[in-house]
Amino acid sequence: MDKGYVRSLFDSIAYRYDLLNHLLSGGIDFYWRRRAIEHLKNLQPKRILDVATGTADFAIAALRLRPGEVIGVDIAEEMLKAGRAKVKKKGLDSLITLQTGEAEKLQFEVGRFDAAIVAFGARNFENLEQGLSEMHRVLRAGGKIVVLEFSRPSHFPFRQLYFFYFRRILPSVGRIVSKSNHAYTYLPDTVMKFPDGDDFLEVLAKTGFSNLLQQRLTFGIATVYAGVK
Ligand SMILES: C[S@@+](CC[C@H](N)C(=O)[O-])C[C@H]1O[C@@H](n2cnc3c(N)ncnc32)[C@H](O)[C@@H]1O
Repeated sequence: MDKGYVRSLFDSIAYRYDLLNHLLSGGIDFYWRRRAIEHLKNLQPKRILDVATGTADFAIAALRLRPGEVIGVDIAEEMLKAGRAKVKKKGLDSLITLQTGEAEKLQFEVGRFDAAIVAFGARNFENLEQGLSEMHRVLRAGGKIVVLEFSRPSHFPFRQLYFFYFRRILPSVGRIVSKSNHAYTYLPDTVMKFPDGDDFLEVLAKTGFSNLLQQRLTFGIATVYAGVK
């Protein structure tokens, strides 16, 4: 998806992003982020990069691992502003730093991080393979990537219910609350097109990761993917 379009879309909904997330997912996204972070427990990473950090919810979830630092990067300045305010309010600003940055061109040196994570962001990358390759580059050898992303349930009736929700309910609620006409039709569009399951693991393998795994959450509405450099 075009970066300029994605940036202005998230900038325009930033002030309502947390509220909308909560409304549209019923809070289950917090549970998903926690499950995703569990994949890093054994690694005990000290330096974590959260790509497409938005308002920093995944960066905050990563603090359960007791890292020394979490850096979050995002292209949308308004999302970062909302994230910084939240991080400061929670007294976490000595642990979490939020910076402007593009997934496809990360401003960090090779091997800088023990873990690189991204939640509901990979789907928006302008170039998925380039973004994942960059995450690979900035990891140390033995470092781990964790990706949390929407996926498509494969079984009846969850598949049917999911498509109904994504195509009918979510765009209407999203439009009313975000006051944006296209933001919440964009979301289901990207979810329908994005590679999930084994297809996503193939992209991870292609960008250099091994020891791959996937864990489907909540009937496959979301999936955690992990791999090692
Ligand atoms: C749906 S939000 C997810 C935010 C957060 N990770 C979470 O779990 O709530 C997607 C974020 O990806 C960011 N984004 C999209 N494309 C990006 C790119 N190429 N590089 C960095 N951030 C990007 C958007 O600006 C937006 O803040």
